[in-house]
Amino acid sequence: MKYKADKNRYSHFEYNRCGKSGLLLPPVSLGLWHNFGFVDDFKKAEEIVTFAFDKGITHFDLANNYGPPAGSAESNFGKILKNQLAAYRDEIIVSTKAGYYMWEGPYGEWGSKKNIISSVNQSLKRLNLDYVDIFYSHRFDPNTPLEETMHTLDLIVKQGKALYVGVSNYSVENTIKAYEILKKMHTPFVIHQPKYSMLYRWVEDELLDMLEEKGLGCICFSPLAQGILTNRYLNGIPDDSRAKKKDSFLHEKDITAEILSRIKALNNIASRREQSLAQMALSWILKDKRITSVLVGASSTAQLADNLKCINSVPFTDEELSEIDQALN
Ligand SMILES: NC(=O)c1ccc[n+]([C@@H]2O[C@H](COP(=O)([O-])OP(=O)(O)OC[C@H]3O[C@@H](n4cnc5c(N)ncnc54)[C@H](OP(=O)(O)O)[C@@H]3O)[C@@H](O)[C@H]2O)c1
Repeated sequence: MKYKADKNRYSHFEYNRCGKSGLLLPPVSLGLWHNFGFVDDFKKAEEIVTFAFDKGITHFDLANNYGPPAGSAESNFGKILKNQLAAYRDEIIVSTKAGYYMWEGPYGEWGSKKNIISSVNQSLKRLNLDYVDIFYSHRFDPNTPLEETMHTLDLIVKQGKALYVGVSNYSVENTIKAYEILKKMHTPFVIHQPKYSMLYRWVEDELLDMLEEKGLGCICFSPLAQGILTNRYLNGIPDDSRAKKKDSFLHEKDITAEILSRIKALNNIASRREQSLAQMALSWILKDKRITSVLVGASSTAQLADNLKCINSVPFTDEELSEIDQALN
């Protein structure tokens, strides 16, 4: 049956302004790094995407290399867009990226003009789109002049292949340099995508202050530490979990006794707050108004439904925040 979006989809939460730009993003966005490749169940992938859209999630994040195999998440998302969401294209923010290894030879990764232009053209073909809403440099390239990478982002916008640009995994210093170059060209550089969770807190040192000062938004990836900050591993390692998958970056050995004891302590705090650990981990990030959105992954609609409840979380007391810090240390 043809999909028709829920008419109440915009009644669930307020959208956040991305830095000082005109772009509004949902507080929770959906990432397609895992669970959306050719190795995964397409029907389920389609269900998760349409469920997300019904709940007001307007932002879907991809990269050239998501799958597996690399590129297949873009192809599957392109199919879902065409078959189910074509009528809603103007309500959707699609992002993609280039920078990590994608194809053989000297032009298949990093930040050269040759890599990025080839990659964006491939992505648009797989996504079956004329343009993406946000295009990212996925990682800083120490061997290509930053001017070349940034001029290429600018060119992509001028060619109409992206509306906005961003950087991901860039240090504070390199983000400032990128900002200065892009500012001179009036390129709509609006967002940084760093890794940030209760277990990985580097952005708190200087990045968030700098982004706020420059008027840039921040969307955090792996806010649940790939599932560690949920109930997924509290009682062992389930067969269908990411830690058991062979193509994943989370391994059984990462679920150490030390991690488990921290997670259990956090879970006790979450239970007292009458929320799931995942909800607490996400609302803990979103309490900082410099964060535009948390970019979650999900292997089911139930997980996404659980995560969305973080938006109505009760505020943290000072005692809870220090208890969380203690549990993390
Ligand atoms: N820019 C970059 O370099 C970069 C790098 C990594 C990711 N990203 C982006 O960030 C997105 C999110 O990353 P991520 O997938 O690592 O995010 P995450 O939200 O930290 O982890 C998602 C995983 O956590 C588990 N999960 C989620 N909600 C749950 C819940 N309520 N209860 C129990 N388990 C739950 C699921 O694991 P199971 O699969 O085990 O069920 C899910 O696949 C990616 O899709 C991608 O768009 C960007």
